[in-house]
Amino acid sequence: MKPPRQAAALRDIRSLMRPHLVTAEPYEGVEPPEVLAQQAGIPEERLVKLNGNENPYGPSPKVAAALGRYRRYHLYPDPQQRHLRQMLAEYAGTSPDRVVAGAGSDELIDLLLRLFVGPGEGVIDCPPTFAMYATFIHLLGARLVLAPRDEAFGLDLRGIEEGARRGAKLVFVASPNNPTGNTTSEGTVRRLLELGLVVVVDEAYFEFTNQTVAPLVPHHANLVVLRTFSKWAGLAGLRLGYGIMDPTVAERLLAIKAPYNVNLAAEVAVEASLEDRDLLMSRVKAIVQARDQLREELARIPGVATFPSTANFLLCRMPHGKGRWVYQELARRGIFVRDFNTPLLQDCFRTSVGLPEENQALVKGLESIFEQGG
Ligand SMILES: Cc1ncc(COP(=O)(O)O)c(C=O)c1O
Repeated sequence: MKPPRQAAALRDIRSLMRPHLVTAEPYEGVEPPEVLAQQAGIPEERLVKLNGNENPYGPSPKVAAALGRYRRYHLYPDPQQRHLRQMLAEYAGTSPDRVVAGAGSDELIDLLLRLFVGPGEGVIDCPPTFAMYATFIHLLGARLVLAPRDEAFGLDLRGIEEGARRGAKLVFVASPNNPTGNTTSEGTVRRLLELGLVVVVDEAYFEFTNQTVAPLVPHHANLVVLRTFSKWAGLAGLRLGYGIMDPTVAERLLAIKAPYNVNLAAEVAVEASLEDRDLLMSRVKAIVQARDQLREELARIPGVATFPSTANFLLCRMPHGKGRWVYQELARRGIFVRDFNTPLLQDCFRTSVGLPEENQALVKGLESIFEQGG
């Protein structure tokens, strides 16, 4: 006779899974171009992909050349990330013992939670914000403590204080915040640091704002700043993020991460990107200018409201009850934005700032949608 556990497993393998993961909702990542093009029934070349806050100019041309030249892909990367951490530290104006790299900053969000938070312990999330925080908190079996932002998307300091008082171990603050585009001031971050919990300031869009709290890191062991090469350097597909933190935290993250978490192609691409910093920053500047122009043009369309943004995307609100419809009409025209329409972001979508012609396609698309039936 089979032992009962095995018999149950044969009936339903889910009975062997951790109960909270049997029903866990996946993070809704952005679909790749070929899937979107198929959905819209158009060739990929006609797709206007504005749903991922990706860099429309792509990586520096030096990246492809360096990847082609590199000869050591058959070897494992350095588990201590020595060369990579050195390069990142120089770029960020800090020392290598304060830097850890991840397969995207996503991986560092997960690792930080695993380092500081146990199942059932509280983590403060400030919605509307980057949904990966809540996803990882849930996967860990930790407790999601919500401190929703106010109408202007500023932080609810009282709510965060209350969460900390009740024992929450960590708070995530994206600055600029995704999807709202606003930043959190250094003064506010200083107040959070005084609460004694771990404060993770996610500066994924730093290069678009030039506002950072990284200089506070040497004075506060409970501050971690996250950055990425996905946005300013156009390396989203190669997955390279990094954190700036207290050396003790860095040492522990290096100890608990998978040994070869960052692949060698990403490391080669970082080196080539840093060598081509001027070109990449001139593109960042172009994106910032295009963002402000796009905002002006969208504001001229009756019914469309936009929020100020310091990043490479804009949050837009459609007339009451029309958000979903506008999203679908845009998609039908091959224009893909990120649909939110949650209670905190009713009738909203977020659009990346694309190439000038992509931004024009969005403006024209919205104009035609509202002429037709707005
Ligand atoms: C606030 C924020 N943090 C982190 C990330 C993830 O970045 P990465 O590609 O480095 O994992 C994003 C991506 O959209 C983001 O908006």
